[in-house]
Amino acid sequence: MNFENILVDEHNGLGTITINRPKKLNALNKATIQELHEAFKKLDTNHTIKVILITGSGEKAFVAGADISEFAHFSVEEGGKLAAKGQELLFDFVENLSTPVIALINGFALGGGLELAMACHFRIASENAKMGLPETSLGVIPGYGGTQRLPQLIGKGKAMELIMTAGMISAEEAKNLGLVNHVVPQEELLSLAQKIAGKIMNNSSVAISKAIKAVNDSTKNINGFETEIKQFGACFGTEDFKEGTNAFLEKRKADFPGK
Ligand code: COA
Repeated sequence: MNFENILVDEHNGLGTITINRPKKLNALNKATIQELHEAFKKLDTNHTIKVILITGSGEKAFVAGADISEFAHFSVEEGGKLAAKGQELLFDFVENLSTPVIALINGFALGGGLELAMACHFRIASENAKMGLPETSLGVIPGYGGTQRLPQLIGKGKAMELIMTAGMISAEEAKNLGLVNHVVPQEELLSLAQKIAGKIMNNSSVAISKAIKAVNDSTKNINGFETEIKQFGACFGTEDFKEGTNAFLEKRKADFPGK
């Protein structure tokens, strides 16, 4: 598949997407959102891909936000559609993929950039990363799920402050808030991601996809405990479950069939 705004690599069970508009600090325009949707969909349906990484090209930015030049003149109706379409194609889509997605925040993650990172299953960052939701400084609010996912990740009060001040926080502050899991020098970001991905790949991809669904439902307005019970029960019908439990009882390493 040919893309103009992103690079996609598939290697050893790992799918890596790099947003590639460095001159615009990888800002998310409409075309990039569409391409990201297609790339995520393709990687998620490829059963040889066990983990997806997403990062930004260059050393300066993960994503510096939605492309302001595209929406500056939008009407109320167009603004609403922009948020709804973006959430459907990319942000909710990524959160609900059955393949684990890790964001590698390699620089600025602002507005839609931080929202994209927050839609991923978890985040790691380089020491130079800077994060924030500056939308209120532009007279708008986060529209790609930021008002929902930020309080879920760092708590309501901290999220309110970050959104109201439109401020930026450092990678270290983000780690202290629980927004990112690890902070490393920029040159070590990819190797850390690969190491974590390697650990994930040792485990049952079927069980992981069910865990993603159950964890996601914990933050939705539905009974996540019921989802957990349902997904937990469903694991008992999988070949991976039989292999995992048999391997334990037989004191050997599991060889999961992924079914
Ligand atoms: N949308 C569109 N273009 C963007 C952009 C965005 N969100 N963020 C950066 N760019 C563009 C700039 O317009 C500039 O383009 P140009 O060279 O054609 O003028 C280029 O990327 C480089 O950005 P620049 O502002 O010159 O870099 P900087 O190092 O001085 O500042 C930032 C970096 C991230 C602080 C600054 O670019 C910024 O504040 N960006 C907007 C962040 C934002 O508000 N995002 C939320 C959008 S809802």
